[in-house]
Amino acid sequence: MGSVKRGKERVVVFACHWCAYSAADLAGIRRMEYPESVHIVRVMCSGMVHPHLVMEAFSLGASGVLVMGCRPGECHYKDGNLKADARRLVIHEMMETMGLDPERFRMVWCASSEAERFVEACRDMVRLVRTLDNGGN
Ligand code: FES
Repeated sequence: MGSVKRGKERVVVFACHWCAYSAADLAGIRRMEYPESVHIVRVMCSGMVHPHLVMEAFSLGASGVLVMGCRPGECHYKDGNLKADARRLVIHEMMETMGLDPERFRMVWCASSEAERFVEACRDMVRLVRTLDNGGN
């Protein structure tokens, strides 16, 4: 673990079933495009995404990981998104320990109707990891 291969980027998006995954569906219905290097993993709540799951994604070759959950106050399991948010620092510390730039991990809140927000978050993440993979240029 620890190294990110240069070349074709892979961005793993852990998408909450109730919001981001629905937003991705809506983006598909609207024929909105996002990079093919985005791989969506549906979870029932962003609070289910344990830091070790994020690190596992990196160890399997992800060049960026995005967790997308319901907006604060809208989590279907009350406070799952707040738990997810509280793990952000731990994840960044684990990444630094493994020699990964913490910028490669992001958390974004999104409503099920926000297809544009979903697509933009994916595009932004892909742009960022491409920049980082190319030495920050
Ligand atoms: Fe969506 Fe918890 S149900 S973040």
